Amino acid sequence: MGTADTQPALETIEIQRFLEGIFQHSGYDFRDYAFASIRRRILGRVAAEGTPSVAGLLDRVLHEPACMERLLLALAVPTTSMFRDPSFYLAFRQQVVPLLKTYPFVRIWHAGCSSGEEVYSLAILLQEEGIHERCRTYATDLSERVLRVAKEGLVPLAAMKEYTENYQQAGGKASFSQYYTARYGRALIRPYLRENVLFAQHNLVTDGSFNEFNVILCRNVMIYFNKSLQARVHGLIYHSLARRGVLGLGKKESLRFTPHEASYETLDLDERLYRKVD
Ligand SMILES: C[S@@+](CC[C@H](N)C(=O)[O-])C[C@H]1O[C@@H](n2cnc3c(N)ncnc32)[C@H](O)[C@@H]1O
Repeated sequence: MGTADTQPALETIEIQRFLEGIFQHSGYDFRDYAFASIRRRILGRVAAEGTPSVAGLLDRVLHEPACMERLLLALAVPTTSMFRDPSFYLAFRQQVVPLLKTYPFVRIWHAGCSSGEEVYSLAILLQEEGIHERCRTYATDLSERVLRVAKEGLVPLAAMKEYTENYQQAGGKASFSQYYTARYGRALIRPYLRENVLFAQHNLVTDGSFNEFNVILCRNVMIYFNKSLQARVHGLIYHSLARRGVLGLGKKESLRFTPHEASYETLDLDERLYRKVD
């Protein structure tokens, strides 16, 4: 076999060893993330850190905590925005809020909340719908670094123009600017929107389920997982949802072909909003 044939196979072995090393060293388990995307991110770090190979990068991250932190951030993909995919929030307002209004108390879990933009967007929506007071929100992510940002409630001020448009498309009922104050080039989310929120570290791959949530949002997270990990995490979500609980997935995700497909009815197919049926 020539070099051209063996190269991709060798690279795959190197990446598998890399992910195994990261897991053993740090407990972060990326072994069942979608291969093409995790490969691209690892090779991106090889280039950015200037190491000669994937094996060289492993050596660096094992010995340099700062290098490990940069790697974890790149592998976690913390991209997010306020009222991301505004039509999702519009559908939530129209189809889920009326259900929640019938509950005395609502428990919400944002799984993979990144730096909090999704959490604060939903808090604004719940406030406008008059049910924020009775909601308790758990917002979790694997990355401690993004959670630190989320807890501060600080959002880049430069993004607020785009977020204002998103908010309006999401059916926003007031002036978006009333929900934050400008501070040193950043927007500080009004503290009352943070009062009912608990941010905590939780890894969907290695940590257990919670229970009795009325709503779980896990948007733009499982797209980075392979099929078997998606199935496992769907199991965890299913067991964390209360009877008739609502699940919201990202636009690019779906319940189709997952082991729990039959356990939900569809509330909104386009917006990937589902309700547990049994
Ligand atoms: C692309 S962001 C999505 C953020 C937000 N849900 C949204 O839709 O805007 C993906 C987030 O999932 C988190 N994540 C990735 N793997 C995870 C895991 N195993 N457990 C918990 N969170 C994870 C990442 O740290 C990142 O913040």
